[in-house]
Amino acid sequence: MSMNATYKAKEFNLSGLTGISDKTLEMHFKLYEGYVKATNDLNERISVVLVEGKVEQDEMPAYSELTRRLGFEYNGMVLHEYYFDNLQKGGGTGDPAQTSQFAKAAETSFGSYNVWKADFVGIGKMRGVGWAICYQNPSNGRLSNHWITLHETGNVAGFTPILVMDVWEHAFLLDYKPAERPKYIEAFFSNIAWDAVEQRLKKITGVQSARA
Ligand SMILES: [Fe+2]
Repeated sequence: MSMNATYKAKEFNLSGLTGISDKTLEMHFKLYEGYVKATNDLNERISVVLVEGKVEQDEMPAYSELTRRLGFEYNGMVLHEYYFDNLQKGGGTGDPAQTSQFAKAAETSFGSYNVWKADFVGIGKMRGVGWAICYQNPSNGRLSNHWITLHETGNVAGFTPILVMDVWEHAFLLDYKPAERPKYIEAFFSNIAWDAVEQRLKKITGVQSARA
Protein backbone atom coordinates (compact mmCIF):
# COMPACT_ATOMS: atom_id res chain seq x y z
CA MET A 1 0.00 0.00 0.00
CA SER A 2 1.03 3.63 -0.07
CA MET A 3 0.21 6.08 2.66
CA ASN A 4 -2.10 9.01 2.05
CA ALA A 5 -3.25 7.64 -1.26
CA THR A 6 -6.75 8.97 -1.64
CA TYR A 7 -8.06 8.48 -5.13
CA LYS A 8 -10.83 10.51 -6.68
CA ALA A 9 -13.23 8.90 -9.13
CA LYS A 10 -12.72 10.34 -12.60
CA GLU A 11 -15.60 11.82 -14.55
CA PHE A 12 -16.10 10.35 -17.99
CA ASN A 13 -17.88 12.35 -20.64
CA LEU A 14 -19.26 9.29 -22.34
CA SER A 15 -22.73 8.65 -23.76
CA GLY A 16 -24.47 7.87 -27.03
CA LEU A 17 -22.25 4.90 -27.86
CA THR A 18 -23.21 2.41 -30.55
CA GLY A 19 -24.66 -0.75 -29.05
CA ILE A 20 -23.71 0.11 -25.45
CA SER A 21 -26.57 2.00 -23.81
CA ASP A 22 -26.32 5.05 -21.56
CA LYS A 23 -28.09 2.97 -18.92
CA THR A 24 -25.23 0.46 -19.03
CA LEU A 25 -22.63 3.24 -18.85
CA GLU A 26 -24.32 4.92 -15.88
CA MET A 27 -24.48 1.63 -13.99
CA HIS A 28 -20.86 0.93 -14.96
CA PHE A 29 -19.65 4.34 -13.72
CA LYS A 30 -21.25 3.55 -10.35
CA LEU A 31 -19.46 0.22 -10.21
CA TYR A 32 -16.19 1.98 -11.02
CA GLU A 33 -16.78 4.49 -8.23
CA GLY A 34 -17.22 1.49 -5.93
CA TYR A 35 -13.70 0.33 -6.78
CA VAL A 36 -12.27 3.77 -6.08
CA LYS A 37 -14.01 3.83 -2.71
CA ALA A 38 -12.92 0.29 -1.84
CA THR A 39 -9.30 1.12 -2.75
CA ASN A 40 -9.38 4.17 -0.48
CA ASP A 41 -11.05 2.21 2.32
CA LEU A 42 -8.46 -0.56 2.18
CA ASN A 43 -5.57 1.89 2.23
CA GLU A 44 -7.17 3.67 5.16
CA ARG A 45 -7.68 0.46 7.14
CA ILE A 46 -4.13 -0.68 6.45
CA SER A 47 -2.76 2.67 7.57
CA VAL A 48 -4.65 2.23 10.86
CA VAL A 49 -2.84 -1.07 11.41
CA LEU A 50 0.46 0.62 10.56
CA VAL A 51 -0.04 3.59 12.85
CA GLU A 52 2.81 2.54 15.11
CA GLY A 53 5.02 1.60 12.20
CA LYS A 54 4.76 -2.14 12.70
CA VAL A 55 2.30 -5.01 12.37
CA GLU A 56 1.59 -6.81 15.64
CA GLN A 57 1.25 -10.58 15.57
CA ASP A 58 -2.47 -10.49 16.37
CA GLU A 59 -3.06 -8.01 13.55
CA MET A 60 -1.33 -10.14 10.94
CA PRO A 61 -4.36 -12.17 9.69
CA ALA A 62 -6.55 -9.08 9.15
CA TYR A 63 -3.63 -7.09 7.72
CA SER A 64 -2.84 -9.92 5.30
CA GLU A 65 -6.43 -10.17 4.09
CA LEU A 66 -6.71 -6.41 3.55
CA THR A 67 -3.43 -6.37 1.66
CA ARG A 68 -4.42 -9.30 -0.56
CA ARG A 69 -7.60 -7.48 -1.55
CA LEU A 70 -5.64 -4.45 -2.74
CA GLY A 71 -4.75 -6.15 -6.02
CA PHE A 72 -8.41 -6.72 -6.83
CA GLU A 73 -9.65 -3.25 -5.93
CA TYR A 74 -6.71 -1.27 -7.35
CA ASN A 75 -6.83 -3.09 -10.68
CA GLY A 76 -10.63 -2.78 -10.72
CA MET A 77 -10.22 0.97 -10.42
CA VAL A 78 -7.38 1.40 -12.90
CA LEU A 79 -8.66 -0.97 -15.60
CA HIS A 80 -12.05 0.75 -15.67
CA GLU A 81 -10.27 4.07 -16.22
CA TYR A 82 -8.38 2.61 -19.17
CA TYR A 83 -11.61 1.07 -20.48
CA PHE A 84 -13.74 4.23 -20.37
CA ASP A 85 -10.84 6.28 -21.74
CA ASN A 86 -10.53 4.04 -24.81
CA LEU A 87 -14.20 4.50 -25.74
CA GLN A 88 -15.84 7.41 -27.51
CA LYS A 89 -19.01 8.29 -29.33
CA GLY A 90 -18.65 7.88 -33.07
CA GLY A 91 -15.46 5.83 -32.75
CA GLY A 92 -15.49 5.07 -36.47
CA THR A 93 -15.39 1.97 -38.58
CA GLY A 94 -14.20 -0.35 -35.84
CA ASP A 95 -10.64 -0.57 -37.06
CA PRO A 96 -7.77 1.93 -36.92
CA ALA A 97 -6.39 3.56 -40.05
CA GLN A 98 -3.98 1.22 -41.81
CA THR A 99 -1.29 3.87 -41.59
CA SER A 100 -1.70 4.32 -37.82
CA GLN A 101 1.06 3.44 -35.41
CA PHE A 102 -1.23 0.90 -33.75
CA ALA A 103 -1.99 -0.94 -37.01
CA LYS A 104 1.74 -1.03 -37.80
CA ALA A 105 2.62 -2.31 -34.32
CA ALA A 106 -0.08 -5.00 -34.60
CA GLU A 107 1.26 -6.04 -37.99
CA THR A 108 4.84 -6.25 -36.76
CA SER A 109 3.84 -8.15 -33.65
CA PHE A 110 1.25 -10.52 -35.17
CA GLY A 111 1.99 -10.63 -38.89
CA SER A 112 -1.18 -8.67 -39.69
CA TYR A 113 -3.75 -6.46 -37.99
CA ASN A 114 -6.40 -9.11 -38.70
CA VAL A 115 -4.46 -11.76 -36.81
CA TRP A 116 -4.03 -9.33 -33.90
CA LYS A 117 -7.78 -8.67 -33.95
CA ALA A 118 -8.70 -12.36 -34.15
CA ASP A 119 -6.56 -12.95 -31.07
CA PHE A 120 -7.98 -9.99 -29.12
CA VAL A 121 -11.58 -10.85 -29.99
CA GLY A 122 -10.94 -14.54 -29.26
CA ILE A 123 -9.64 -13.67 -25.80
CA GLY A 124 -12.70 -11.49 -25.27
CA LYS A 125 -14.92 -14.49 -25.95
CA MET A 126 -13.16 -16.74 -23.43
CA ARG A 127 -15.45 -18.12 -20.78
CA GLY A 128 -15.00 -16.58 -17.39
CA VAL A 129 -15.03 -13.25 -15.62
CA GLY A 130 -12.39 -10.76 -16.67
CA TRP A 131 -10.81 -8.58 -19.31
CA ALA A 132 -9.15 -8.75 -22.72
CA ILE A 133 -6.15 -6.43 -22.77
CA CYS A 134 -3.65 -5.57 -25.47
CA TYR A 135 -0.35 -4.66 -23.84
CA GLN A 136 2.85 -3.18 -25.16
CA ASN A 137 6.18 -4.46 -23.94
CA PRO A 138 8.15 -1.27 -23.26
CA SER A 139 11.49 -3.01 -23.86
CA ASN A 140 10.84 -3.85 -27.52
CA GLY A 141 7.58 -2.10 -28.41
CA ARG A 142 5.79 -5.33 -29.29
CA LEU A 143 2.09 -5.86 -28.64
CA SER A 144 0.59 -8.93 -26.99
CA ASN A 145 -2.97 -9.76 -25.94
CA HIS A 146 -3.83 -11.22 -22.54
CA TRP A 147 -6.74 -12.66 -20.62
CA ILE A 148 -7.08 -11.14 -17.16
CA THR A 149 -9.11 -13.13 -14.63
CA LEU A 150 -11.18 -10.86 -12.36
CA HIS A 151 -9.04 -7.68 -12.38
CA GLU A 152 -5.69 -8.80 -11.11
CA THR A 153 -4.66 -12.21 -12.43
CA GLY A 154 -2.74 -12.18 -15.69
CA ASN A 155 -1.55 -8.58 -15.90
CA VAL A 156 2.07 -8.54 -17.06
CA ALA A 157 4.36 -6.54 -14.79
CA GLY A 158 5.75 -3.43 -16.45
CA PHE A 159 3.74 -3.82 -19.66
CA THR A 160 1.62 -0.87 -20.76
CA PRO A 161 -2.12 -1.37 -21.33
CA ILE A 162 -2.90 -0.12 -24.85
CA LEU A 163 -6.46 -1.36 -25.48
CA VAL A 164 -8.62 -2.53 -22.58
CA MET A 165 -11.95 -4.35 -22.98
CA ASP A 166 -14.15 -5.22 -20.01
CA VAL A 167 -15.91 -8.54 -20.61
CA TRP A 168 -17.50 -8.94 -17.19
CA GLU A 169 -21.20 -9.52 -17.80
CA HIS A 170 -22.09 -6.22 -16.12
CA ALA A 171 -20.45 -4.50 -19.11
CA PHE A 172 -23.24 -5.66 -21.44
CA LEU A 173 -26.02 -7.50 -19.59
CA LEU A 174 -28.53 -4.63 -19.83
CA ASP A 175 -28.05 -4.61 -23.62
CA TYR A 176 -27.40 -8.27 -24.50
CA LYS A 177 -28.03 -11.77 -23.22
CA PRO A 178 -25.14 -13.50 -21.45
CA ALA A 179 -24.54 -15.68 -24.53
CA GLU A 180 -24.38 -12.59 -26.77
CA ARG A 181 -20.94 -11.46 -25.69
CA PRO A 182 -19.75 -11.47 -29.36
CA LYS A 183 -22.35 -8.79 -30.15
CA TYR A 184 -21.04 -6.67 -27.28
CA ILE A 185 -17.47 -7.13 -28.54
CA GLU A 186 -18.58 -5.95 -31.97
CA ALA A 187 -20.21 -2.91 -30.34
CA PHE A 188 -17.04 -2.27 -28.34
CA PHE A 189 -14.99 -2.14 -31.55
CA SER A 190 -17.35 0.38 -33.12
CA ASN A 191 -16.72 2.76 -30.19
CA ILE A 192 -12.93 2.56 -29.80
CA ALA A 193 -11.19 5.88 -29.34
CA TRP A 194 -8.24 5.01 -31.56
CA ASP A 195 -6.60 8.38 -30.93
CA ALA A 196 -6.48 7.60 -27.20
CA VAL A 197 -5.13 4.12 -27.95
CA GLU A 198 -2.49 5.64 -30.21
CA GLN A 199 -1.33 8.01 -27.47
CA ARG A 200 -0.68 5.09 -25.15
CA LEU A 201 1.75 3.48 -27.54
CA LYS A 202 5.25 4.22 -26.50
CA LYS A 203 7.01 6.26 -29.11
CA ILE A 204 9.31 3.52 -30.27
CA THR A 205 10.45 3.73 -33.83
CA GLY A 206 10.59 0.25 -35.25
CA VAL A 207 8.86 -2.36 -33.14
CA GLN A 208 11.05 -5.45 -33.00
CA SER A 209 9.54 -8.46 -34.70
CA ALA A 210 9.24 -11.85 -32.99
CA ARG A 211 12.34 -13.09 -34.81
CA ALA A 212 14.48 -10.15 -33.80
FE1 LIG B 1 -16.60 -3.38 -15.41
